[in-house]
Amino acid sequence: MGDHYFESDPRSSSESRSINVSLPGGEIEMVTDGGVFSPKRLDPGTKVLIEGMGDLCGLPDAPIVDVGCGYGPIVAHLALTCPERQFWAVDVNSRARELCRTNMQALGLADRVQVLSPEEVPAHPIAGIVSNPPIRVGKSALHELLELWLSKVISGGESWLVVQKHLGADSLTKWLTEQGWPAEKVSSKKGSRLLRVCALPGGSQGQPAKSSSR
Ligand SMILES: C[S@@+](CC[C@H](N)C(=O)[O-])C[C@H]1O[C@@H](n2cnc3c(N)ncnc32)[C@H](O)[C@@H]1O
Repeated sequence: MGDHYFESDPRSSSESRSINVSLPGGEIEMVTDGGVFSPKRLDPGTKVLIEGMGDLCGLPDAPIVDVGCGYGPIVAHLALTCPERQFWAVDVNSRARELCRTNMQALGLADRVQVLSPEEVPAHPIAGIVSNPPIRVGKSALHELLELWLSKVISGGESWLVVQKHLGADSLTKWLTEQGWPAEKVSSKKGSRLLRVCALPGGSQGQPAKSSSR
């Protein structure tokens, strides 16, 4: 039986495969495997994020982070779209990181996309996060994860999240705004809400969230 997709070391047997991923700039081939999120096709929520997020190429000069990169479809799209930028692709799942590395290499993006475990992330400000976040880790772990990352975003930065409506997108939007990260619903498609989250005025880097309610 399979693991959760957010296992750090999946025990599921390997079922390596290539899938075609349709991005706004064209179709690419990516390798996926058992034990990672949505290995058989681009997740529909991820597709909503990729097709709907704004142009991030002009964000302030700092890495943009794909939080929970999986095999790498979101960061692949961004790195192909913004050829001058640096990205971090972060995941707890070692198999996902390995696949993401392989995919970035195959796409010629390995010099601009650093694939990292959360422990390897440098203490450095960032321009924003993009994420189809791991809702299934539970509300409190999800809030901690978002606080951790959003507090690193510098002034002028912005972040994009996709969350399914039935998995609490609206309450998450409210919670983010209450914490001081104004979040707006940009679109709602196929049950997925696309959220844009602004950095705190003056940048939120290093500052704790306003409220400790989790
Ligand atoms: C919903 S999946 C999205 C995967 C990929 N971005 C996609 O759209 O196909 C969420 C990902 O978050 C990862 N994850 C879970 N907890 C995490 C954490 N604390 N830090 C970073 N990634 C985490 C999971 O392993 C999983 O790959």
